[in-house]
Amino acid sequence: MSFLSETLSRVKPSPTIAVTTLAGELKAAGKDVIGLGAGEPDFDTPENIKAAGIAAINAGKTKYTAPDGIPELKQAICDKFQRENGLDYTPQQVSVGTGGKQILYNALMATLNPGDEVVIPAPYWVSYPDMVLLAGGTPVIAPATLENNFKITPADLEAAITPKTKWLIFNSPSNPTGAGYSRDELKGLTDVLLRHPHVWVMTDDMYEHLAYDGFEFCTPAQIEPALYDRTLTCNGVSKAYAMTGWRIGYAAGPVELIAAMRKIQSQSTSNPCSISQWAAIEALNGPQDFLTTNNAVFKRRRDLVVSMLSEIPGVTCPVPEGAFYVYPSIAGLIGKTTPSGVTIDNDETFSRALLEETGVAVVFGAAFGLSPNFRVSYATSDEALRTACERIQAFCAKLT
Ligand SMILES: Cc1ncc(COP(=O)(O)O)c(C=O)c1O
Repeated sequence: MSFLSETLSRVKPSPTIAVTTLAGELKAAGKDVIGLGAGEPDFDTPENIKAAGIAAINAGKTKYTAPDGIPELKQAICDKFQRENGLDYTPQQVSVGTGGKQILYNALMATLNPGDEVVIPAPYWVSYPDMVLLAGGTPVIAPATLENNFKITPADLEAAITPKTKWLIFNSPSNPTGAGYSRDELKGLTDVLLRHPHVWVMTDDMYEHLAYDGFEFCTPAQIEPALYDRTLTCNGVSKAYAMTGWRIGYAAGPVELIAAMRKIQSQSTSNPCSISQWAAIEALNGPQDFLTTNNAVFKRRRDLVVSMLSEIPGVTCPVPEGAFYVYPSIAGLIGKTTPSGVTIDNDETFSRALLEETGVAVVFGAAFGLSPNFRVSYATSDEALRTACERIQAFCAKLT
């Protein structure tokens, strides 16, 4: 009998780790590797936010805080929801955690019993299904298609719901596709949820501020106020404010759920870093103009990558509405062979051969639940992106 818990046997190791490890090994061996795998902005945290963190240290704000956040940050979060999303929440309805990841995990741990199902549209962020499994629930994947720009339809959602469904996890703009649901598309989904009062929605709005071409971000409780009492609206400062290492995520929802999440956090990690909480207040309350500047850079990079990958015969690369990812399909390359004799039978083989033969590290689509695709993170310099895309073009041109 294994010493390790049975829970662990339900969870697979992160499939992205294989690519990252191989990329690290090749780099260590002196190979010129361009990493397009990282899910974090290459920008530095804005100076005013860093200064708020330093001021917090100097003011001695370095002690334990309330387990799920200081009142000042909870108020800043309520103000943000009111200002940006038209949502009314009180501080008792807010939970602050160590990154968006802990918030989602706490919510699943707080609510799932064996047999409970969680609907997860695919392509999905790699952690959702495994978090559901860790919490004892059953992930139910609702596949989207490239033809529908990686978004599920109301009929797809309807088909995935059963009497055992507890949550829908919704993520727009999405990791890994960058797809963003329009107001009408989201309304189609919330209408389905209205017909199933036992289903709650956990909306992961992490990429809210990373949207291009005038895309209008919207979130379920704003689109359908009747869902307010069964919605957990999750967000965080990691991506928009270039604060991935500070580890602050937050959510707002019904008081009873927030209290249950607090109980879990108080018996596991306790409060998120006190210094980061003060910095997050500055992120939410301070100047927001750098978002426009950063988004202009991201949009330029997105357009560069989409246009260069779209030139490749056999590759289809939809233009995403937001985030900093593209998710091209390689359906037209399946069955071809590299000059060194590797047959591209799926997206994992493609990504591995691409890395070994050109030094470009991408993440294969099977990790995100939709194949044959790969994910490119364009949160890196224009120069690195141009070189990487040239290498991908050359690699594909040599396939026979
Ligand atoms: C969709 C999505 N949700 C949540 C997270 C977690 O964010 P955090 O770094 O704040 O834990 C990520 C990070 O990659 C993400 O892509």
